[in-house]
Amino acid sequence: MSASVLSRSALRAAAARTSFPAATRGLASVATSQAPPSTPESKAPRMKKFQVYRWNPDQPEKKPYMQEYELDLNQTGPMVLDALIRMKNEMDPTLTFRRSCREGICGSCAMNIGGTNTLACLCRIESDTTTATKIYPLPHTYVVKDLVPDLTQFYKQYKSIKPYLQRKDAPTPMKENIQSIADRKKLDGMYECILCACCSTSCPSYWWNSSEYLGPAVLMQSYRWIADSRDQFTEERKAALDNEMSVYRCHTIMNCARTCPKGLNPGLAIAKIKKELALGSS
Ligand code: SF4
Ligand code: F3S
Ligand code: FES
Repeated sequence: MSASVLSRSALRAAAARTSFPAATRGLASVATSQAPPSTPESKAPRMKKFQVYRWNPDQPEKKPYMQEYELDLNQTGPMVLDALIRMKNEMDPTLTFRRSCREGICGSCAMNIGGTNTLACLCRIESDTTTATKIYPLPHTYVVKDLVPDLTQFYKQYKSIKPYLQRKDAPTPMKENIQSIADRKKLDGMYECILCACCSTSCPSYWWNSSEYLGPAVLMQSYRWIADSRDQFTEERKAALDNEMSVYRCHTIMNCARTCPKGLNPGLAIAKIKKELALGSS
């Protein structure tokens, strides 16, 4: 049936069925038993200040500075990314930040908000309007512009651990590399990583040694392949890590696990790598 012949009530019902549930956008559920909430226009404004790190490589004579923006929270979505998008769209098109999915999947909106590395799209705006929210790029990174960190070294290190399945057997045409359910379970807590770099850029050891220490995100991905029963280069992977700097600069500070916006524990994966290296070749 075409939309043009649907009744209004059928269209409304269809729209209700196809709209995203509030929970998928992190919105508070709406109580339906009470009187409908007043429209945003009828509410007293809730003005909130945001102080945002700014730096423009095209104006090298101008030092980095904090720029203040003020938004009415009644007119703004609930997440810090919603606020940044409003600032850029309605107040200042020069404000620069990365974002793509708005759902905590792509990892591109990682930044430091209120002192914590996190994803702007998963970070609720602090409701206290008496204090400003401070937003910086990920710490101890070179900055490309404003809130955009240069992740060249991070991705170079990720590439160095060969983050893909390696096999010594010749592939059998039309046959998958299967794995037991128990072996697949060993990858839980690691495969979910979205490589946002929040953990690595929260790690003091990585701040000081990032040219040689691989950092929590890359090490967890390395262990993700060491632990994969289908991979046949386990010993080579371990040998590549068995030196003074790649792994052993981790001093179990655990900032990585505290800050991970996906609730993962890279510190635990690093501890498992250290254990495997201590036990030697199997
Ligand atoms: Fe981001 Fe967490 Fe992966 Fe680190 S472990 S890169 S914080 S998702
Ligand atoms: Fe750094 Fe995490 Fe180790 S914060 S020192 S990688 S446990
Ligand atoms: Fe993709 Fe935030 S926009 S994780």
